[in-house]
Amino acid sequence: MSAANSSRIFDIDLAPEGHLAIEWAQRHSPLVDGFLRERLGDGALAGRRVAIVVHLEAKTAFLATVLADAGAEVVVAGSNPHSTRDEVAAALVDRGIQVHSTRESGYQAWEKDLLAIADTGPEFIIDDGAELTIRMATHRPDAFAALKGVTEQTTTGVARLIELAKRDRLPCPALAANDAACKHLFDNKYGTGQSTIQAILNLTNMLMAGKTVGILGYGWVGRGIAAHVRALGGTAWVIEVDPVKALEAFMDGHQVGNLTSVLPIADFVITATGGRRALGRQHFGDMKNGVILANAGHHDLEIDVEALADEATDFRGVREGIDQYQLGDGQSVLVLANGALVNIAGGLGHPIEIMDLSFAVQGVGCHELARNAIPEGVHVIDSAIDSEIARAKLAFHGISLEQKQSHQEDTIDDLLGPEG
Ligand SMILES: NC(=O)c1ccc[n+]([C@@H]2O[C@H](COP(=O)([O-])OP(=O)(O)OC[C@H]3O[C@@H](n4cnc5c(N)ncnc54)[C@H](O)[C@@H]3O)[C@@H](O)[C@H]2O)c1
Repeated sequence: MSAANSSRIFDIDLAPEGHLAIEWAQRHSPLVDGFLRERLGDGALAGRRVAIVVHLEAKTAFLATVLADAGAEVVVAGSNPHSTRDEVAAALVDRGIQVHSTRESGYQAWEKDLLAIADTGPEFIIDDGAELTIRMATHRPDAFAALKGVTEQTTTGVARLIELAKRDRLPCPALAANDAACKHLFDNKYGTGQSTIQAILNLTNMLMAGKTVGILGYGWVGRGIAAHVRALGGTAWVIEVDPVKALEAFMDGHQVGNLTSVLPIADFVITATGGRRALGRQHFGDMKNGVILANAGHHDLEIDVEALADEATDFRGVREGIDQYQLGDGQSVLVLANGALVNIAGGLGHPIEIMDLSFAVQGVGCHELARNAIPEGVHVIDSAIDSEIARAKLAFHGISLEQKQSHQEDTIDDLLGPEG
């Protein structure tokens, strides 16, 4: 069956616009276009069935294209019901790749798309949030048992895979791409930091300078967001549950408080905890009138929008991507991008150069799964691969490194003397 006949997308006529977006992503993806392509040249993925379930936009589509060029049978779905770019999905189908995804599909249609991907019997999954892996475990046990490997994009997904493994329910090796230095040090921090603030300011057309911004969670994502708030003249107020992370935020020069002290003064509140309902029913009444809420964590549930809707006396869309909930007289709460990841559902996603690094890790991870016998369980990608990727990125920027000489090594030999 052709890709067009087997896919579920919005409109194939959008393909030309999608091709342009993918070509733009390609221009700024030297690692995926060079380093990864070269590695895949050994044919390890030729004829292998690979499912990609990551936010479906141009950078993801370029990764899919490179894997397909290497001979893999690639199928694609979006990892979130709000983030798919219909024009990019159309371009992929036009390139002969099967896609099941539409923007704002709603939760049920999105899950159905994931199961359609599961039904193609993937051997390998490049997953985000373990969204496909978890659904195969629960709804497609036979296909799940036949899986050969998973590489996982994000913090929440790695935590889910570790849980599956603990319960003895992971039948194959999984590589925690998120835990590779070349992923979380750059993607979670610089990529999410910049793109989250960019999306918030673009959606609202507002100024950051002078604003008070509550940030829930000071992990890799939270610290990137706080740094970008400060860079634009805002004041970051970090809210944490982990004392070490809170102290780190304090030493980094940010304000640190709790929900009781921060919610009444914050102009923006951004969630980045990786958990659910970090902002829930009990918190909305404490917020400043006109506060703007945005989520950068994987779950659409970090802000309990359903509870907010339930509490609201009035609701209206006030601008594209901005909904206003009225809580009685004189208090409104505004939510960006329905509480989905604001940088992706309400913006252009990560900068291309960042996804180039992340997808080099994911692509090499998938290649490693195909060519090596890796035992079951969740593994961190070999640090030698991290170094290779970083070296390739530096080389692209024309940067070379020093070599450590043997006489520069510290040793206790001199101190111990000839007796050793
Ligand atoms: N938007 C994106 O593009 C993007 C990119 C990368 C990761 N993510 C997602 O962002 C989330 C955070 O990722 P990370 O790498 O920073 O994770 P992390 O584990 O490094 O940090 C999360 C932090 O949140 C804190 N926390 C947990 N619950 C809290 C609560 N209720 N209140 C306050 N603090 C709380 C934890 O102590 C921790 O320090 C994850 O869901 C991850 O998958 C999103």
